[in-house]
Amino acid sequence: MSSALTDLCRYPIVQAPMAGGTSCPQLVAAVSEAGGLGFLAAGYKTADGMYNEIKQLRGLTGRPFGVNLFMPQPALADPSAVEVYQHQLAGEAAWYETPLGDPDSGGDDNYDAKLAILLEDPVPAVSFTFGCPTRDTLDAFAGVGTYTVVTVTTPEEAQVAQWAGADAVCVQGVEAGGHQSTHRDDPQTDGAGIGLLSLVSQVRETVQIPIVATGGLMRGSQIAAVLAAGAEAAQLGTAFLVCPESGASLLHKQALTNPLFVRTALTRAFSGRPARGLVNRFMREHGPYAPAAYPQVHYLTAGLRKAAAKAGDAQGMALWAGQGHRMARELPAGRLVRLLAEELDAARTAVSTGSTQ
Ligand SMILES: Cc1cc2nc3c(=O)[nH]c(=O)nc-3n(C[C@H](O)[C@H](O)[C@H](O)COP(=O)(O)O)c2cc1C
Repeated sequence: MSSALTDLCRYPIVQAPMAGGTSCPQLVAAVSEAGGLGFLAAGYKTADGMYNEIKQLRGLTGRPFGVNLFMPQPALADPSAVEVYQHQLAGEAAWYETPLGDPDSGGDDNYDAKLAILLEDPVPAVSFTFGCPTRDTLDAFAGVGTYTVVTVTTPEEAQVAQWAGADAVCVQGVEAGGHQSTHRDDPQTDGAGIGLLSLVSQVRETVQIPIVATGGLMRGSQIAAVLAAGAEAAQLGTAFLVCPESGASLLHKQALTNPLFVRTALTRAFSGRPARGLVNRFMREHGPYAPAAYPQVHYLTAGLRKAAAKAGDAQGMALWAGQGHRMARELPAGRLVRLLAEELDAARTAVSTGSTQ
């Protein structure tokens, strides 16, 4: 690992930021305490909400951690397409007896206010999703000693991140649970996502900055594979989602290993941007015509998803999951970090001695 990222954790294991309450301070603290690097998710939060979580986390651990920010999205969504989708979801609103949300309530995700707090009271690491910050912003974080990571899904995005001055790139394969962090959401490139191992190798040959690999990683042996391909660390989301400390709902956790949900797919049905989740009724019914309109669709469906969860109806929820979901192990987060580290060690030893596991 690069000196700075290695300094932040004992093992090359990063717990992915997971918005929507999943990567709560309890989960992040448990991961960082065990020698991994935990990340809080600031997405969809107010700036004060983000800061409260940081303060809560600092009360739980003195170990390094990171905070993840969503980049503001250009206003490209077609309002009439959002309106049509609104009508198409009328039956859901009636079924769940919940009004649809205001599609325009998201704005810029309070990006500037969050930046101001993180520069005023710095944290060890900050990562960015859905785009690359300006060179000035990345320089400002360097000035306060914060390690910066930009999530990318192509070698070209990695080049932009390096050019802008990021310390590292988080390389996200198409296997990843949750949103694909493409810098520009272009429906023309739907289905063009690159698998993680191939993408890490391509990015390794394109940029010099450290790589954190993410997408579908559930075992230490897979972490060994991405490290061998040139990554400095691995970031795992779904693997940590099932931990008791995670703030994900019980229904979501149980669905990951429920044989009823065998497949994952990318869909715009819940948020208007491609995101990977377990295939369920809502995704099957609305995915085919959901518009490219993020974050408008996220706010439109927020109440429906909440109502479905309240009703215990997993078929109406966004069950974000990576392709490795069936390998999820319900272990306390600290134990999972240590087990992954042991598996990583064993895999590396097996490779170097030529023995099979
Ligand atoms: C429930 C959930 C929420 C997520 N939220 C975020 C987020 O807020 N910010 C972000 O950068 N990535 C987010 N991701 C994507 C992760 O950073 C990571 O790319 C992904 O989890 C890796 O794939 P895996 O789930 O197969 O490990 C989320 C993933 C999941 C499963």
